Amino acid sequence: MANDLLVIGGSGFVSGTVARRAVAAGFRVWVVTRGQRPLPDGVTAIVADRKDTPSFEGAISAAMQMAKIDHFDLVADCIGYDAVDAVQDVAVFRERAHQLLFVSTDFVFDPTHRRFPQGELSDHYLSDGYGGKKRLCELHLLGTDTGDMSWSVVRPCHIYGPGSELGCLPEHGRDKALLEKLRAGEKLHLVGGGHFLQQPILARDLADLMLGFLGRSDLHRRIFQAAGPDVVESVDYYRIIGDVLGVPVGIEEIPVDAYLAANPASAPFLCHRIYDLSGLHAAELPTPATPLTVGLAEQISALDA
Ligand SMILES: NC(=O)c1ccc[n+]([C@@H]2O[C@H](COP(=O)([O-])OP(=O)(O)OC[C@H]3O[C@@H](n4cnc5c(N)ncnc54)[C@H](OP(=O)(O)O)[C@@H]3O)[C@@H](O)[C@H]2O)c1
Repeated sequence: MANDLLVIGGSGFVSGTVARRAVAAGFRVWVVTRGQRPLPDGVTAIVADRKDTPSFEGAISAAMQMAKIDHFDLVADCIGYDAVDAVQDVAVFRERAHQLLFVSTDFVFDPTHRRFPQGELSDHYLSDGYGGKKRLCELHLLGTDTGDMSWSVVRPCHIYGPGSELGCLPEHGRDKALLEKLRAGEKLHLVGGGHFLQQPILARDLADLMLGFLGRSDLHRRIFQAAGPDVVESVDYYRIIGDVLGVPVGIEEIPVDAYLAANPASAPFLCHRIYDLSGLHAAELPTPATPLTVGLAEQISALDA
């Protein structure tokens, strides 16, 4: 029998990739969105705004009745950003899902107290901003009785691939005009000269990793870093793009201190973001394996198309 997956989100970059990979793998897939973007083929749409819990819960309940199911095998919350979203996940799915997988971020860590590589545990998490709020979601799960529903968390670092813009470091993070600039021979302006280390993960690999949680209630209360196979300096990420385009990449360095003083919220980008993936390996989850050179070439083809 097919596995039943509910994706919260489902038409975005990450959530859309999860939904597409799940359909391709033979899952029955429901997606919850506000209906503002086209959905992947093969999914069942649930239209609701998750910020309105009664209507969100009502729409999910109606979809389950329609499909005559009393539980989803797995709910993947791809768009939980605030503690209230994790509260909602537990309240709505405790009796409706066997497993919950919550997408957090590597920005939960305080960038000034990282380890290299960074493991799952730290004594220093952020307490505000995007990463701090994701940490509050994790803390809600850690501190709550979720009944028979098991939960796990993935913490991806920079996610790349078809469906998103290129760029992993200021001032060329998700830069819509990056290919145009490189083809025109423009120099890139990278904070710290782009020497911060990164370990980007291809969205497809992340999706396959997430689907690998299905049936793994033994991973209850576990949090996993999710990163790709290659550790590179950020500048090399841009040089790989230059190699695919067949153009040289000129770099102008922006001093870290000056950039941070003007853009304090960018601090989580300005540190080495490399991870100890031994937890994933020990749990025998599908390990992200696509080389950065291969994934970036795919992303460039998709953007050019
Ligand atoms: N990109 C990275 O490098 C990175 C790194 C670490 C972690 N992450 C995490 O990855 C996730 C990103 O997911 P994504 O790429 O799919 O996001 P996205 O591209 O922004 O798409 C958001 C999706 O959620 C739906 N949506 C938005 N607001 C909604 C609401 N109030 N109610 C119901 N549906 C709503 C959207 O459809 P409608 O507009 O139609 O509602 C869309 O399907 C986040 O959890 C982020 O923190 C990203």
